[in-house]
Amino acid sequence: MPAGVGNPPQTDQTTREFPLLAALRRDFTWGVSTSSFQIEGAAHEDGRGPSVWDTYCQKGLANHDTGDIACDHYHRYAEDIALMQRLGVQAYRFSVAWPRVLPQGRGTPNELGLQFYDRLIDALLAAGIEPWLCLYHWDMPQVLDDLGGWTTRDVVSWFTDYAALVAGRYGDRVKRFATFNEPSIFTLFGHGFGDGQRDISGVNSLHRAVHHVNLAHGAAVDAVRARVPGASIGAIHNFQMCLPSTLADAEAAKHCDLYWNRAFPDPQCLGTYPDRIQRALEPHMQTGDLAHIRRPLDWFGVNHYGPTYVKADPNARLGFGIGPKPPDIPATPIGWPIVPEKFRETLLRVAKAYGLPIYVLENGLGGHDKPDEKGAVVDNERIAYLRDYIGALNEAVSAGADIRGYFVWSLLDNFEWDSGYSVRFGITYVDFPTQRRIPKASFHWYRDLIKRARAQADG
Ligand code: FCB
Repeated sequence: MPAGVGNPPQTDQTTREFPLLAALRRDFTWGVSTSSFQIEGAAHEDGRGPSVWDTYCQKGLANHDTGDIACDHYHRYAEDIALMQRLGVQAYRFSVAWPRVLPQGRGTPNELGLQFYDRLIDALLAAGIEPWLCLYHWDMPQVLDDLGGWTTRDVVSWFTDYAALVAGRYGDRVKRFATFNEPSIFTLFGHGFGDGQRDISGVNSLHRAVHHVNLAHGAAVDAVRARVPGASIGAIHNFQMCLPSTLADAEAAKHCDLYWNRAFPDPQCLGTYPDRIQRALEPHMQTGDLAHIRRPLDWFGVNHYGPTYVKADPNARLGFGIGPKPPDIPATPIGWPIVPEKFRETLLRVAKAYGLPIYVLENGLGGHDKPDEKGAVVDNERIAYLRDYIGALNEAVSAGADIRGYFVWSLLDNFEWDSGYSVRFGITYVDFPTQRRIPKASFHWYRDLIKRARAQADG
């Protein structure tokens, strides 16, 4: 059966409800998001070079999961775009795999890799879906990581050349560019929490990485702007309130907030680092750096799942770590806290602090979905989560936040980093052995929601 055909599975009464959308702009953008390593597969095809995530997988994730095949999107992108058309989304956010287009990270581009994104972009445009291109969603070429990756200042020119290549190639058709996805997450988890293969030499590597990513962001904004007339450029931040796990963790939560929520947006949008971070970064900074980081931006991308609970931990590299949520806070099947009010507060905080139009570029629920005996995937919990979070977004707009779009994470179940394929975030179920796509109940719900919203905007 082709993707998306068939009756929507039965959902319970609550999850057939829709949130209020009355405050949203008429031109509000509805979309879905993915990223290269999580869906493309074709890891060894057409000249792609290895990324740090290929190397990390070789060290052995649970179930020996790798990104070798993932959702096989490299070959099935047309089927996936057909799914998007059925959903009625106006926009699709994806990322370019740096090692696919520059297998050595720099130097000679890989024409076959570049052609994949030509095909993808052309097919999206033919389907009436606007491509939103993110330059970096964590898959750094391994060869560059071997030279120091984000911890060496050389990375700024490597990234700028890569950004120039991508902007020059696709800028005739793509106007929406994001520099980085969630810089605080890959720097903190790579260096700050001492977790993962890029944890090289302590807190100094974290601070160098933070500053070099910020410099690379600023330089990439200029590189894209110079090559793409009418470009609309932003960066995507995982912005989640840092809350103390217990009363004793209040200081730790404040400290975490500086790294998690402010270390990138503050210099990028305001031209300053929070004081405590500024002091730590000084040894790695040069005159004029902050002016190179703060370049004019068109929008602010927010990824949000729930608040981050923080605990003090004297043995941790930064003195804090991820803590347990208080027992009375509800959670998703994978244990992430569900607090829609904190989403509303986050959006209002971002609106006030940075004054840019906001696009929510990731939000969704991770679970362990399975088809039932009839082959349907009835994900009521995901529907309830999306309903409450989109409702909170509408409230933030009513309270004055300028929010222009919402993208679900994710179109497809995919490779969920350290969790491999054991955690599913898709509104489409992927049966990995056969690669069959089965739209879940949430897919049908989101399609209906978009239909209502667009009818309301037209009426
Ligand atoms: C975000 C990542 C995205 C996905 C979701 C669940 O932090 O940007 O790739 O893994 O979490």
